[in-house]
Amino acid sequence: MSLEYKINAPVSVDQFIELLNESTLGERRPVDDRECIAGMLVNGNLMVSAWIGEQLIGVARSMTDFHYACYLSDLAVHRSYQRKGVGKKLQSLTQAQLGPRCKLILVAAPAANAYYEHLGFTNNPRCWVLNRDQQISS
Ligand SMILES: CC(C)(COP(=O)(O)OP(=O)(O)OC[C@H]1O[C@@H](n2cnc3c(N)ncnc32)[C@H](O)[C@@H]1OP(=O)(O)O)[C@@H](O)C(=O)NCCC(=O)NCCS
Repeated sequence: MSLEYKINAPVSVDQFIELLNESTLGERRPVDDRECIAGMLVNGNLMVSAWIGEQLIGVARSMTDFHYACYLSDLAVHRSYQRKGVGKKLQSLTQAQLGPRCKLILVAAPAANAYYEHLGFTNNPRCWVLNRDQQISS
């Protein structure tokens, strides 16, 4: 069965959780919180997915304005299909949906740092993250 890529195709909570676990990204995503996962699926606005028949084998899930910034939140490829160009294709299809000034921005998992460097991303030491349990005092 051949590999098929889809833009904004529906992905169920179960399919997404299974892929996160099978890719190992599940170690860093809230796979035990179905409400959060459902919210991620409903409210992201760009999802490129890879399928073999009915099986979801890869996703690139982003939030973007399509013109200036695209935050690539979750890139995951099923471990049986890693290092076959799927991750690269998911990102090139994501980029193809974006306008000419739109940057891809992401926070890499530790094991994926070298991967993004290999693809041409530049590391930005001025990227900052505020966790939800840290309050900004007013
Ligand atoms: C990281 C991940 C998305 C990469 O997808 P993939 O389909 O396995 O990778 P690709 O086949 O697209 O790799 C493209 C290129 O990067 C290289 N590459 C792949 N993984 C790499 C790594 N960890 N470090 C350095 N280079 C890597 C490949 O050899 C390939 O090189 P080439 O184009 O010169 O032949 C996938 O391995 C994955 O899901 N990992 C677990 C979850 C994760 O860490 N996700 C990223 C969260 S930020």
